[in-house]
Amino acid sequence: MWIIFMGPPGAGKGTQCERLTRSLHIPHLSSGDMLRQAVVEQTGAGRLAEPYMARGDLVPDQVMVKLIAERIERRDCASGALFDGFPRNRHQAEALDQALAARGTPLDAVLELDVPDGIVMARLAGRGRSDDRPEIIAQRLESYRRQTRPLLEYYRQRGLLEIIDGTGTPDKVFERILAALAARRRAGPGSEIARG
Ligand code: AP5
Ligand code: MG
Repeated sequence: MWIIFMGPPGAGKGTQCERLTRSLHIPHLSSGDMLRQAVVEQTGAGRLAEPYMARGDLVPDQVMVKLIAERIERRDCASGALFDGFPRNRHQAEALDQALAARGTPLDAVLELDVPDGIVMARLAGRGRSDDRPEIIAQRLESYRRQTRPLLEYYRQRGLLEIIDGTGTPDKVFERILAALAARRRAGPGSEIARG
């Protein structure tokens, strides 16, 4: 299965992907973790990405698309992957569509974790990653609103979008995710229910 997780910073994408990767046995590809690793290793991509990440801006598409395109060619992605934080704009979404079409493995679902800004701020305040300072969180939220959230409509029109209430405990959110995926499986691809 190929599943995209969307949602604002602090929505719980990483938290929920960690759970789902264990139950579906497909890898969890976190674009943010891949970039942070590249920064630590000071690769070309990492050096390029670092100032954008420090400001809370999206890193240039060509950097991100290349990292993901290479990653999905690895053997562990033979039966799919969970995308956490990718794609984040229309150009990235189209690049992913093309890469998956070339493999003959289309997307199965796009899950948006819906969490209000106030809860997101509180969650990130308790974590303490280097980009979790209030002014950088504000910029990450703004990037999400302006560049990423419009993608929801792109996926809704194709019947792929499921909006998941991301509030409550991680267990509760995970139950909702499993229920949404089970409902899609029962409905079958292309059915009216699957289109939500
Ligand atoms: P990225 O690492 O993707 O950060 P993000 O989208 O801002 O999201 P977070 O990782 O902060 O939140 P999350 O939704 O994973 O929540 P989590 O589970 O950790 O991106 C970082 C940067 O990289 C970007 O700003 C950009 O510069 C760059 N980048 C990444 N992808 C890119 C792309 N495609 N294109 C261009 N640039 C890109 O949870 C957050 C906290 O809340 C944790 O402490 C967790 O324990 C807690 N928590 C989770 N769920 C719950 C719950 N239900 N109840 C209470 N607490 C909870
Ligand atoms: Mg994350």
